[in-house]
Amino acid sequence: MNNETVAAGIVGTGSYVPDTVLTNEYFEERLDTNNEWIVTRTGIRERRIVRPDVATSDIATYAAEKALEDAKMNPEDIDMIIVATVTPDMSFPSTACLVQKNLGAFKASAFDISAACSGFIYGLSIASQFVKSGSMKNVLVIGAETLSKITDYSDRNTCILFGDGAGAAIVSRVEKDKGILASYLGADGRGEDLLKLPAGGSRLPASAETVSNSLHYIKMNGSEVFKFATKIIEEAAEKALGMCGLSKEDIDFFIPHQANIRIIESAIRRLNISKDKVFVNIEQYGNMSSASIAVALDEANKNKKINKGDIVVLVGFGGGLTWGSIVLKWS
Ligand code: UT7
Repeated sequence: MNNETVAAGIVGTGSYVPDTVLTNEYFEERLDTNNEWIVTRTGIRERRIVRPDVATSDIATYAAEKALEDAKMNPEDIDMIIVATVTPDMSFPSTACLVQKNLGAFKASAFDISAACSGFIYGLSIASQFVKSGSMKNVLVIGAETLSKITDYSDRNTCILFGDGAGAAIVSRVEKDKGILASYLGADGRGEDLLKLPAGGSRLPASAETVSNSLHYIKMNGSEVFKFATKIIEEAAEKALGMCGLSKEDIDFFIPHQANIRIIESAIRRLNISKDKVFVNIEQYGNMSSASIAVALDEANKNKKINKGDIVVLVGFGGGLTWGSIVLKWS
């Protein structure tokens, strides 16, 4: 079997967001910020956060269970589990191994990938290569984050942006010329300082000093990331569309990473697509990094926003810097 005869597509989706809601008023009461600034500058009204005893593997498992149900599959049908996250339960074992144990998916290989907010796109792309090559039948891809664990709630520049959540998709064999038609991935490590969690790795191991200097929290140069995002989103969409002989006029549904409503609006203008073709849920969840597109895809699927035969384009961008896009023919 080779990629001439086998196509890979998404056959089930699932998602989970925690119940606890942090509204803009929560921040208004504690920091020098206000609802109007947050809504106009970001589009965010609320975000969800997990309880302190809940970790990324827990919510990743909930999303995966729903994707299995949607695909009408059992855990033992899964050949590989890929978890995209910047908030793993720990450095190792991987969060994917913990999800494998929780699900009882013991036939599956399992590993994490670190591509920040582009992680779910990277995961789908990897999964599609394994399925198209014929070496795997069913790959579970999860984007899951508990960003509340690495957010500095005294830093108004970042804390208003992030939320927790998890989304999952099962990539399996589908009919020829359907499913994932193209995927395009990119990175530029020269942007390493623009968005990062400085301490806790081998460069700056955890110490009393790193903790007292708040180096275990997300640091972001928001305006530089913003400029990068507005440029790359159109470029990445056009690259993947071009790879399968399509153009932006062919887009039926567009799911961009949910980082800032102004970035999404700029993409709508640049790609010249109508607003009703674009999925937006940033208002309710904020930026959930690798979980943003995964949750959005599940909500679009379950709410019948995407129909059989639609050309769906997913675009992610984020820390690394990284970016990626997928073109799907929904089946
Ligand atoms: O998911 C990965 C990708 N991440 C992104 O794509 C994020 C991209 N960046 C952004 O979304 C935006 O840059 C932010 C929302 C983070 C910031 O918006 P901005 O319009 O770029 O604001 P800014 O950073 O240029 O700051 C403008 C002003 C500053 O005050 P001064 O220096 O002009 O007096 C900030 O201190 O807004 C101030 N500010 C705030 N004011 C009220 C920053 N955060 C807040 C806040 N409330 N929460």
